[in-house]
Order: sequence, then structure tokens, then C-alpha cells
Amino acid sequence: MPATILVGAQWGDEGKGRVADWLAAEADVVARYAGGDNAGHTVVVSGQVVKLHLVPSGILHEHVVCVLGNGMVVNPVNLLKEIDGLKAIGVEISPERLMISSRAHLITPAHIALDSASEQARGSQAIGTTLRGIGPAYLDKTGRQGIRAGEMRDPEGFADSIERMMERANAALVRDGHAPLDAKSAAVQYLDAAALLQPYVRDSAQYLNERLRDGARVLCEGAQGTLLDVDHGDYPFVTSSSPTAGGALTGLGIGPGAVDRVVGVAKAFSTRVGSGPMPTELEGELASRLRGTGENFWDEFGTTTGRPRRCGWLDAVVLRYAAQINGFTELFLTKLDVLSGLPELKIAVAYRIDGREVDYPPSTMAELARAEAVYESVTGWVQDVTGARHLADLPNNAIAYIQRISELVGVRIRTVSVGPERGQLVFV
Ligand code: IMP
Repeated sequence: MPATILVGAQWGDEGKGRVADWLAAEADVVARYAGGDNAGHTVVVSGQVVKLHLVPSGILHEHVVCVLGNGMVVNPVNLLKEIDGLKAIGVEISPERLMISSRAHLITPAHIALDSASEQARGSQAIGTTLRGIGPAYLDKTGRQGIRAGEMRDPEGFADSIERMMERANAALVRDGHAPLDAKSAAVQYLDAAALLQPYVRDSAQYLNERLRDGARVLCEGAQGTLLDVDHGDYPFVTSSSPTAGGALTGLGIGPGAVDRVVGVAKAFSTRVGSGPMPTELEGELASRLRGTGENFWDEFGTTTGRPRRCGWLDAVVLRYAAQINGFTELFLTKLDVLSGLPELKIAVAYRIDGREVDYPPSTMAELARAEAVYESVTGWVQDVTGARHLADLPNNAIAYIQRISELVGVRIRTVSVGPERGQLVFV
């Protein structure tokens, strides 16, 4: 069975990009199934730092074909910028190596303006979105008035669709006291983008199923994380897509029988960007210590928005839930090295809500907002672990930490990352 699904087990930013880069070495196709350029991943190629938001990092492996699946929302202008950036550092990009599903929906300036307007209108209840137009684009998709990538093949019809969408958005923007957008100039800009992207557009579900039938190995790359899933996350503080494993099937058009491996990626502590509950959130010195200073690209600041991430102890309640929702067959733990030097580590093993202990996250925001973490303490380690490559290279307390997480989640941890370089992995 040749397909692997890669899913974030927390609130996104678990380090999926580096895991995807590692798994892509063994894959023939890497296909992203949800979200848009709200995601972000930094890669270093020949000493040059590249930020990827839409194109899967599999593109850096010459033998891999990359797919932007039908479950995605794609901003064509930003995709072109990313393609140009990749070409500038010598990455070969052609329709043979990169394809956009004709069923993927497009993000327009209308969606971006509506995203900002909606956040402003929410005031103190703002979601803290990335302001990339993600929510409004998915709203148009489910409202059956979106524009799909396939429309880029018909320039005249496409320009009309863009103008119509912009005018519809303008009516809403003006009604709420915002300035209207220039519908004509947006149509011209998008027509130019469409002319350049049109060769990359095809029926990717058909392509993926053909490749799977021929025995190709497909990596289904998720974005965001389980707790940001529109169904299974902390609604309404979620994104508008399905980053969980089920989303890979609808977001790519493949059947469950093709999948034999579901890799959950979890950071060795918790981070969250944007609003919403986070029962293990820390403040002050400890939070700053986990966040880092921002000098390094792996510090806890958003790749897309630059916002400092909220940091906290590992939440095993969240991980156990993610394992259940996604059916993880293994866990990949990232950033263990960041914990070196902390005398004591804590893991949330349950939540206390109104004096009652539960070992799963409640499904309503009212209850979740009252949840307090119940902790278990683990002794830390002082040794630098960045050079470890085997379990036996790690200090005993680090091994105990890994084993305890595995026990609490009920899924084996097969791989642990101990630094940002490709080879800084411990195989458990
Ligand atoms: P949106 O996806 O821009 O609508 O944002 C909705 C929520 O998801 C906000 O809390 C964002 O901060 C969060 N979010 C979206 N994409 C990512 C991501 O790639 N990493 C972490 N958080 C994200």
C-alpha cells in the first residue's frame, strides 16, 4: 500500500515540513491536501533560506513530483512568487514536476479583504487568522460560488468570474464601511497569473490514482494541525479546512485502501499562534526560553506572519485525541533539543473541568475554556542532545520522556529530531 499521510498532531508548526522533506526522499509524489499559503516552512538550500507556503518541500528532491491537491485554496499570484523564488536558487520547476488540481479553489484579493474585515468585526473575539483570505475562500467554495483553478484555462470566462467575485465582495465591504477594491485591476493581474500557471493545471486526482495503481509511493502532506481542523479542532478558533487524515482522502481524491501509514508529527512541547484555548500555555521566562529569541529560523515565530508563538508544556491529552482522530500508526517527535537544560519538564495528562478530571478534550468551547491542565512531572536533562543519532546516545531522562509520551498517547515514537539539519534525527 503506497500512500503515507503526514498530519500535525497539535496546532500546526510541529515541524511537518522537515518531516516531509525526510519522507520525500522515499516518495515518488508529494501531494498537499489542505489549506493555502497560511502555512509556512523555511528550508535552507545551499546556504540560502527559502520560505515555502504552497509548494510542498518535496520539490527540493529532484525525483519527486509535487501536487497542490483539490482540497487546497491557492493564491495564484503568491504561488508564482514562490515558483520564481525556487527557480532563482536553481530548483527546476516545470509542469512535469508540479501540478495544480483543476478542482483547487483560488484565493483572490476579495478573500483577503474579507478576511481582514471579518477579523475587525469580531473585535476581541478575533480568530487571529493569517489574513491570507483562507476562510472567505473556503466559504465561497462551500457556498458554491468559488473559482476553481481549472477556470484559468478559459481566460475570458476567468476574467469575468474574477470581476464578478470582486464586485460581490465590494458590496459586502462597502456595506460594512470599508473601501471597495479595484475589480478591473485585480482581473488584469489574475489574468496574467493564469496565463503563466495554466500549464500546471490538471486533474490531479486522476493522476494520483494512476500513479498509485502503478505502485508509486505517494506522500500526502498536511498543513496546519489536528486542533485547527474545522470539524475536530477548537472551533471557532480553527482554520477553515480539514488538516486531519480524513482531509487527505477528500483533499486528494484517493480512497482509504491506498493508505498504510499515518505519521503524526508532534513538537516536544506545545505552541499555538492565534487565539483559542491552550491549557498548558506558559508565561514569562519559561515561555521565552521555549520560544527562542527569533534570531534562528527554527525559533517559535510564525513563518507566514512573524508573530511570536504562544508556548507551553507538552499536552498529552491533545496528542491522544489526535492519535484517535487520525489513526496514527507512528509519531515523529520534533525539537527535543530545545528542552535540554530544563531541570523539570511537565506533561499534561488530563484536564480538570469544574472539579472533574477528563482525559480527552471537551467538544464545546465553553467547557474547553474552563479546562485546567493536570500535570505529571518528569526530571529533565542537562546534556546537549544535538549530536545523538540512536536512542542509546540520549540521556536516560530524555529516553524516559520519550517513552512516557509514547505510553500516554498509545502510539510508538519512531523518530525524534534533535536539531534543524536534515541528519539530526534519532531513530528509536
Ligand atoms: P487562517 O487559516 O488564516 O484562517 O487562520 C485560522 C487559525 O489557524 C489562526 O489561529 C491561525 O493562526 C492558525 N493557522 C493557520 N495556518 C497555520 C499554520 O500553518 N501554523 C499555525 N497556525 C496556523
